[in-house]
Order: sequence, then C-alpha cells, then structure tokens
Amino acid sequence: MPQRPYVIDQMISAKSIAARVEELASEIAADFAGTDKLVVVGLLRGSFVFIADLVRELDLPVEVDFLEASSYDNAMESSREVRILKDLRGQIEGRDVLIVEDIVDTGYTLSHVLHLLQSRGPGKLRTIALLDKPTRRETPIRADWTGFEIPDEFVVGYGIDFAQRNRNLPYIGKVRFTPEGDHLAPEA
Ligand code: IMP
Ligand code: MG
Repeated sequence: MPQRPYVIDQMISAKSIAARVEELASEIAADFAGTDKLVVVGLLRGSFVFIADLVRELDLPVEVDFLEASSYDNAMESSREVRILKDLRGQIEGRDVLIVEDIVDTGYTLSHVLHLLQSRGPGKLRTIALLDKPTRRETPIRADWTGFEIPDEFVVGYGIDFAQRNRNLPYIGKVRFTPEGDHLAPEA
C-alpha cells in the first residue's frame, strides 16, 4: 500500500490553548483548595505537553506521576482493549489525584484508568481531558474538566501524535489526506 501524504490544518491555536489551560488551572486549584499534596497523573504519551503547561499554572502543592495505557496500536482506530504498559511509581492511597488525558475518544482508556486508580483508595479523584470528541463515545464517561470539545476529526500536535509524529506542533491541527501533503502517513 502506498504511503498517503497529508497536511495539517490548524484547529486550535497555541494562544487559545494557553488561555484555556490558565482557566482550567484556576478551576482545579479552587476544587482542590486545601489539599496537602495533589498527585497529577499524566497518561503517556499524549498528555506530556498538556501536563507540563497545566502544572506550571497550578497554584497547589503537586507531585507528578505518569501511567501509560495503550488502546491504539499505532493506528487511527481504538482497539477498545486497554492495557497498562507502565504503572505509577508512587502510592495514591488516601491522596488527592488528578488524571490528565489528552483526548477522550471512545472513552475506554479514561474509563479503565479511572476504575483502576479508584480501586487503590485515593482521596478525591478527578479527571481532566484537553480534548473531547463526544460523538465518538462508546462508554458513558466524561472528564470532570474538558479543554475543548471537537468534532470527529483525527488531530495532532501539542503532544498528540499520528503514529508517533507531529507531537511537537505548538497548536492542535487536524490531519487531512491530500495528493501533495507535507507529511507521510505510516505504511499500512
Ligand atoms: P479512547 O480510549 O478511544 O477514548 O482513546 C483515547 C486515546 O486515543 C487518547 O488518549 C489518544 O491517545 C488516542 N486518540 C484518540 N483520538 C485521537 C486523535 O484524533 N489523534 C491522536 N490520538 C487520538
Ligand atoms: Mg492516549
């Protein structure tokens, strides 16, 4: 199968993301006011840019930990089966926890991770997703905070990839296949 070229059309600018991150951080700080230490859990790898910006806006004592779950096998479709590839380093029992996800698509990843961490007896447990594609949902879950709701488009940038590419774009853009794109999709 030939490689398919694609271009990336900007959907959410770096400036809009920064403004929204600031708003979300102040809502989160208010919700967790008085916490002795918030454990911010980033879901690898897509949330790494978002979590970096978010914690720097958070006026709270925080610890950062990471968990890697996989539902996509290097493709554009969710496999629906969620596996934990890397677990947290720290204990969360009795601790306040914020799970940070890049995109809620079918909802299986966030739902699985939420139940897993809930089973460890945390204090207050909340979720935030930078992006949400509500029309794609297959399991009833919604993050406590959402940065932006987007239509059913495949997006990249600000940490989010297409087969490991384009994570370093400062904005969020949608992938559009075209006969003469700047980027090449992986070989199928
Ligand atoms: P879910 O389990 O179907 O909700 O999938 C969530 C995960 O799929 C996200 O954490 C992303 O890693 C990935 N994902 C969903 N939509 C996109 C997209 O448009 N671009 C890149 N990755 C995506
Ligand atoms: Mg992900």
